[in-house]
Amino acid sequence: MQKKYSNKRIKFSSCILGCGSYLPKKIVTNNDLSKKIDTSDEWIKTRTGIKQRYIASKNQLNSDLGFQAARKAIKNSKIKISDIDLIIVATSTPDHTFPSTATKIQAKLGLKKGFAFDVQAACSGFIYAISIADNYISNKQAKNVLVIGSEIFSRILDWNDRSTCVLFGDGAGAIVLSDNKKKNSGIISTELYSDGRFYDLLYVNGGVSSNQKSGHVKMKGKEVFRHAVEKLSNCIELSLKKNNLVKDQIDWIIPHQANKRIMDMTANKLGIPREKILITIDRYANTSSASIPLTLDYALSKKIIKRGQIVVLEAIGGGLTWGCSILKY
Ligand code: COA
Repeated sequence: MQKKYSNKRIKFSSCILGCGSYLPKKIVTNNDLSKKIDTSDEWIKTRTGIKQRYIASKNQLNSDLGFQAARKAIKNSKIKISDIDLIIVATSTPDHTFPSTATKIQAKLGLKKGFAFDVQAACSGFIYAISIADNYISNKQAKNVLVIGSEIFSRILDWNDRSTCVLFGDGAGAIVLSDNKKKNSGIISTELYSDGRFYDLLYVNGGVSSNQKSGHVKMKGKEVFRHAVEKLSNCIELSLKKNNLVKDQIDWIIPHQANKRIMDMTANKLGIPREKILITIDRYANTSSASIPLTLDYALSKKIIKRGQIVVLEAIGGGLTWGCSILKY
């Protein structure tokens, strides 16, 4: 029998002060896509759970989306912009090859201090970024970290490839992680994994040192699906065990929103009721590293997640990379 998690034994190094998100104005429905490519609303809904996605306008950059999400997260955190001392942006679709999108957002916020950088772990990027932020805070190298997931996947999709273009959307989400000890809440644990042997299962066929193009998303969908269910359920099981938590103590799971069937099958494998899985894929599609903070912001704004509840964040993406984070909100 596993020991029950006790509040007293946990020393939280970082807690979530606030969250924010941004979606572009334009909605593209499955029916809109079916007028341009050989697909149908029925196929997309049944196989993925997606009904529509948001697409950035031509003049919007990744940093524009990230900046809007960041502003809202800072406002909801009730801190000043100048209190931020580190910005981490998880993204695979940056404004430029370099400098980082994080430094662009730093300038847009008018921040003249601290430091900023991007993290590239494909769809697992937000979990990686949380882990890094939590470590900087626990090592006392930062106090208030703006963690952003921002993506414009519409720019790296082959809009004639029905097997990939129907799956993704654009958007951004952000949180402020803080060393604020008064909250008695925060990150309990974050586990990260990668296995580069599966590099070719999900990748973009362009890059600076390969062909100097930005390229398009290529994916072996069935294989990614299989790895996702197995790796995510194992990862959560191990993390619960490590933290002396039992499944019943989980109030909510926020999975990376890649496919509703992956989310359902992972929950089934774990023996966790589907009602505890927070889902936005129907409206937002797969927004890669933005999908977790977008879903978190939705759940917080609707007061679905309440202070003191245990939330598991989990994601898998190109690399393969994967991981999960357990937190007390
Ligand atoms: N509309 C209509 N038909 C489509 C289609 C579309 N958008 N995309 C593919 N098809 C067709 C295929 O051509 C194939 O036809 P065929 O049997 O005549 O050859 C058929 O549908 C089945 O394709 P398949 O790829 O086997 O479907 P699937 O059940 O594996 O579903 C995915 C495809 C992509 C939805 C699914 O594999 C998946 O979600 N994988 C995980 C992807 C993922 O989550 N990636 C991100 C991780 S970060």
